Amino acid sequence: MSNAPVKVAVTGAAGQICYNLLFRIASGALLGPDQPVELRLLEITPALKALEGVVMELDDSAFPLLSGVQIGDDANTVFDGVNLALLIGARPRSKGMERADLLEANGAIFTTQGRALNDHAAADIKVLVTGNPANTNALIAMSNAPDIPRQRFNALTRLDHNRAKAQLAAKVGATVSDITHMTIWGNHSATQYPDLFHALVRGQNAADLVNDQEWLESTFLPTVQQRGAAIIEARGASSAASAANATIDHMHDWVLGTPENDWVSMSVPSDGSYGVPEGLISSFPCTVSGGEYSIVQGLEINDFSRAKIDASTAELAEEREAVRSLGLIS
Ligand code: NAD
Ligand code: LMR
Repeated sequence: MSNAPVKVAVTGAAGQICYNLLFRIASGALLGPDQPVELRLLEITPALKALEGVVMELDDSAFPLLSGVQIGDDANTVFDGVNLALLIGARPRSKGMERADLLEANGAIFTTQGRALNDHAAADIKVLVTGNPANTNALIAMSNAPDIPRQRFNALTRLDHNRAKAQLAAKVGATVSDITHMTIWGNHSATQYPDLFHALVRGQNAADLVNDQEWLESTFLPTVQQRGAAIIEARGASSAASAANATIDHMHDWVLGTPENDWVSMSVPSDGSYGVPEGLISSFPCTVSGGEYSIVQGLEINDFSRAKIDASTAELAEEREAVRSLGLIS
């Protein structure tokens, strides 16, 4: 093996998402079967002992691609020279909480981590935020890292994208691999808008194929929008393995590229495309080539979709105001 290891920072490393995620990164699911990785794991001090146990299990898995593991509770040390950062560590919501309740509890984590990435990460750093409220936490990290290009900060809406594909596949009797061009617009929250008007099922327009506006509005949208809450209700804990899987999917595609003739949903800083206010970290259809994403341009947005996208981006703008008034961004 001749490739130098890629340094991957992961926060919240003793938590439930990471108990799945770390083993998949080390097995090659993130960067492929020929790319060694070094893990840099950040936790809060009281969780370091539990994290030591996770590291024992990583050791005991004898992953050929895992060239090293470092753990710590100081972001400045753990983020030193990292190429990729998966920011997962944050308090998950429990039954009855909405994401907005998490803004204050979790927002402060991302000021410190944004600054630490700014000062210590490698020049090619890519940052993906999974910890909720993911879009606004990414905005906080980005705003506290003025020397890192803004487009290096993404948030996770790939889980919503995957959920939407699964629901559509079940409705039309297809497999998820028959479905392309799915899009989640807006926020990773109950206002997100999963768009069937551009999705294709074996090349056929999904909205035309379904031909059931009642199902789209009363079943499909709320099922995808509320899926996180449904899992919390059923499991008594928030989604973990599927969140880890989506985190891998997003970063894998951001580094290695999206398939030809398809796109994926990525929450990225808006450049004003589709009327989304510039600077908000909002979900868009994106393609990736050479490690750089582009927002797919030129899609026609009907009135129904316009209203849904506007509602979700209005929520993102409100979250931005809320964290500004908390002093987390300027
Ligand atoms: P968890 O409570 O099991 O683990 C979170 C871990 O983060 C804990 O071990 C905690 O000690 C650690 N942590 C807290 N503050 C930290 C800090 N400042 N630095 C480093 N680590 C810190 O939670 P989980 O189930 O793994 O979920 C993690 C986050 O991911 C939650 O915010 C959850 O809501 C979110 N989530 C997002 C999506 C998505 O699609 N975007 C999906 C599922 C979960
Ligand atoms: C999810 O979508 O499963 C997570 O964001 C957890 C949550 O709070 O909904």
